[in-house]
Amino acid sequence: MSSPASSARSSLLQRASLPPANPGMSFPLDKSKFEVGFTTLAARVPASRSREVRDNKIIQGSFLSIPRFSSYVVDPQNPKEKRLILLDTPEKDELTSEVLSELELAAGHPLDLLPYSFTLGFDHWTTSDLMDSILPLELRDGAPTAFTFAGHLAHMNLKDNYLPYKYQIGEIVLHKNTTLRTVVNKLDTIDNEFRFFKMEVIAGETDFLVNTIESGCKFTFDFSTVYWNSRLSTEHDRLISLFQPGQLVADVFAGVGPFAVPAAKKRCLVLGNDLNPSSAEWMQKNRVANKVEKSLTVSNIDGRLFIHQTPLQSYLHPFPALAPPAPKRVRTSKTSTANATNSSTPSSPPKAPAPALAPTPSPLFVSHYVMNLPGSALEFLDAFRGSYTPLLSVQKEGGAEGERLTVEEVEMPLVHVHCFSKFEGEEAESDVAERASESLGFPISRASTPDFSLKEVRRVAPKKLMFCVTFRLPREVAFATERVWSPLDPVKESHGH
Ligand SMILES: C[S@@+](CC[C@H](N)C(=O)[O-])C[C@H]1O[C@@H](n2cnc3c(N)ncnc32)[C@H](O)[C@@H]1O
Repeated sequence: MSSPASSARSSLLQRASLPPANPGMSFPLDKSKFEVGFTTLAARVPASRSREVRDNKIIQGSFLSIPRFSSYVVDPQNPKEKRLILLDTPEKDELTSEVLSELELAAGHPLDLLPYSFTLGFDHWTTSDLMDSILPLELRDGAPTAFTFAGHLAHMNLKDNYLPYKYQIGEIVLHKNTTLRTVVNKLDTIDNEFRFFKMEVIAGETDFLVNTIESGCKFTFDFSTVYWNSRLSTEHDRLISLFQPGQLVADVFAGVGPFAVPAAKKRCLVLGNDLNPSSAEWMQKNRVANKVEKSLTVSNIDGRLFIHQTPLQSYLHPFPALAPPAPKRVRTSKTSTANATNSSTPSSPPKAPAPALAPTPSPLFVSHYVMNLPGSALEFLDAFRGSYTPLLSVQKEGGAEGERLTVEEVEMPLVHVHCFSKFEGEEAESDVAERASESLGFPISRASTPDFSLKEVRRVAPKKLMFCVTFRLPREVAFATERVWSPLDPVKESHGH
C-alpha cells in the first residue's frame, strides 16, 4: 500500500543514495565535493524509553535507514536525559496517524518533533554511487566496479574509454575496500608466455609482493612476475579434492603452486613444474613456508620435456616413503576418565594402544597430470605420445633379475587439461575432444575414453569459456612407438588463446 509517508521516505532515501555529480573531477579526489546536507524530522524521546521506541515494530518502518549512518543520536541539548530518533521524512504530515500515535504512546505526550540536519559524505556512498558521481553520464553504464583481489592488491582491467579516469577510479576502489593497499590496472592482455601481465599502479603503494591464503595454504609471490588468479580457487579446490593421499601428482604448469602445495599438504606426492623461473622460485618458497618439502619437488623446465620425462623419472627415482601422519591427540573426557578409574565397570575395557602406522609407500606411477595453461595446454598433449615406452626397458621394481614391466602393469594417469572454447555444452565437448585427439594422435571422447569428463570452469569473456577436460591417458598414446614430438625438438611457442 502506498501512502504519502512512504513516498516521502523513498524520496529521501533516493536522494541519500546519490552523491552530487562531479564528472571529470581531477585527481586527487576532493572528498568534500561528495558531501550532501539533509534535513529530516527527529523525535525527541526520554533516554529511559528510547529502547522501547526503537523496538516498536510500527514506528521502525519510519526510521531513517542509511547504511553506515545511525538513526539514533544523543540529544545535544540534553545529552543526559534525551535521545533523538531520526525519521525518514522532513514533514510531520507525511507520517501516518498510526505512527504518530505509537510515537506519542512510546515517547510521551505531547510528541516533541524537531528538524534535524546531517551530512552524508564520501564514506557513506557505495563504490558504484561514487563511480557514477565522477564519470560523465555516457560512461556510467558499465562503470568498472569489478576487480579481482590478491592479498592487499586489487587488479582492474579498465577499458580504453575509462583510462582518463583511472586514478580517480583507483582511489575510489582503494578507499572503499579497507583491506587493500594497492590498486593496479592491467596494461596488456595476458599474452606473454608466463601468463603474467604488465601493470600500472593506479592507487596506493607500489607493492607487488602479495601474501594470501588459498586452500588452507599460505602463498607469497611477486604479482608483477608470476601468474595468480584468485578466481580459480574453486577450480583448484575441485581438482585437489580428486587427488588421494599417497598418489603422485604431476603439475605441468604449476605457477607458484596453488594445486601443488595444497595437494602436498594433503599427503600427495607432487612434482610441481613451471618454466617461469620466478614462479618456480616462489613455489619453492611456498613449499618451505607450508612445510611440504618432503612431498613436493619443484622443477623449472618446459612442460613438454616435463611430461615426457616424468613417467621414467618417477619410476626410477620415487619419493622417499613418507612417515605416517602423527596420531591425533585424543582428549580424555571426564566420563571416560571416571570409567577408566572405576575398575568395576565392565563396559569400559582399557583402550589398546593404537597400532603403529606404516609409512605411506612411494608411488611409482603418476596418478594425475594437471595442465592449467588454457591458451595452449591441449597442444602439449603430443608430449604424452610414447612417454611411457621407456618404462618397458627398465628393470621391474621388485621383479626377478632382468624382468621387465608389461604395458598392463603400468598405471595410466588421469590427465586434467584446462582449455578455452568459444562453444558451450555438447558443441564445446566435441570441440575440446577433437583438439585433444588431434594433439594426442588418438581419438578420445566421452563414449570411447575411460573417465572422460568436461567441466566448465568459468566464462572469461562473452564468447570464451574456460573448461577442464579430464580423461584416462590411453595406453595406445602412452606406449606409442612413433612420436610426434621429441625432446630434441626446439621448444614450441606456448602462448596463444
Ligand atoms: C595459467 S598459469 C597456471 C598457474 C597455476 N597452475 C594456477 O592454476 O594458477 C600457467 C603457468 O604455465 C607456465 N608456463 C607457460 N609456458 C610454459 C611451458 N612451456 N612449460 C611450463 N610452464 C609454462 C606459466 O609460467 C604459468 O605459471
